[in-house]
Amino acid sequence: MTDLLLLPGDGIGPEVTAQARRVAQAVAPDLSIAEALFGGCSFDAHGTPLTDAVLGAAKSARAVLMGAVGGPQWADAPRDRRPEAGLLNLRAGMEVYANLRPALCFPALADASSLKRHLVEGLDLMIVRELTGGIYFGSPRFIEDLPGGGKRAVDTQVYTTGEIERVARVAFQLARGRRNLVHSAEKSNVMDSGLLWRQVVTDLHAREFPDVRLEHILADNAAMQIVRDPRQFDVLVTDNLFGDILSDAAAQLTGSLGMLPSAALGDAGRPGLYEPIHGSAPDIAGQGIANPLASILSLEMAFRWSLGRPEAADRILAAVVRALDAGARTRDLGGSLTTVQMGDAVLAAL
Ligand code: NAD
Ligand code: IPM
Ligand code: MN
Repeated sequence: MTDLLLLPGDGIGPEVTAQARRVAQAVAPDLSIAEALFGGCSFDAHGTPLTDAVLGAAKSARAVLMGAVGGPQWADAPRDRRPEAGLLNLRAGMEVYANLRPALCFPALADASSLKRHLVEGLDLMIVRELTGGIYFGSPRFIEDLPGGGKRAVDTQVYTTGEIERVARVAFQLARGRRNLVHSAEKSNVMDSGLLWRQVVTDLHAREFPDVRLEHILADNAAMQIVRDPRQFDVLVTDNLFGDILSDAAAQLTGSLGMLPSAALGDAGRPGLYEPIHGSAPDIAGQGIANPLASILSLEMAFRWSLGRPEAADRILAAVVRALDAGARTRDLGGSLTTVQMGDAVLAAL
């Protein structure tokens, strides 16, 4: 059985995943690692971004570490076979509905943030993004021609009680091990799905988590509060689309989008899907300058949440802290290290 399936993907995906692989081999030489094509490179080879064989391998591995997918080369691929569609099918196929996106401000990087040091020092925010529902998956979705000219495009936001409850439960459980506070963000002022979201979270809270503090917040206000005073948050649970947007904003507080890892989890005992939250970065792909830390920290989360090796996770986290403390910086963090040199710095710190 494969412990860790690597899906490096496109653009900077293979560049950053190669560094995570080196770290995995250093902390756990016994780990069985496999690698497969996924995303645009799979579309080029097989005509589809996600083959049945790769989905099967992902479901039977203990953890999957994805790099990034997509890029301008595939902009004109059929919609259902674009690299990004493959990623949605992978998430849905693995049934990983709860996406943990931790925004941690490492002490050495407090000055790399776009916010002032006193606002981000000690930041430890956990965004829990619903990952297999909402407008990403709702139907109908289409673009149609209008009789008088022009077109009409439709996407559908859908949520069921069960979908909201299971992701909110993850958020409440996480909060219990942290600062015991959950913010739930939606647009219940304008959307029916937001209204149901608020009701379901309120009911679940009363029924199962009365000991956790719960605050409801409208998603637009949440965006503002994240850049005004991010440390007021502990766990922030929200839907698929709001979570996508709010997590990119939160990433920048930590110094760079290249710092934010993620863990996508399903029911207990199922494999997790780990991925940096950034994309394939076509603007810097092939130059060897991407920051590999989001990938390395995603590996850290895999050791913690799927591979049952918290001590390996602790070692990786400590090594990243030590490398940053020693001044290791890729370009996005204001330094000049290459991707490989940042990998070297983490390995040396191990
Ligand atoms: P992006 O995240 O790829 O890049 C945004 C900006 O951040 C770019 O300037 C990029 O250079 C920079 N950046 C991102 N990661 C970095 C890293 N590790 N080190 C240094 N700089 C980094 O977003 P985009 O440009 O909007 O999207 C590009 C492609 O990636 C699109 O096809 C998009 O659909 C796809 N995408 C994929 C994923 C994924 O696979 N999980 C996530 C987001 C976007
Ligand atoms: C992310 C990405 C993906 C998303 C895209 C590439 C499908 O932006 O993981 O944040 O929107 O979920
Ligand atoms: Mn995103």
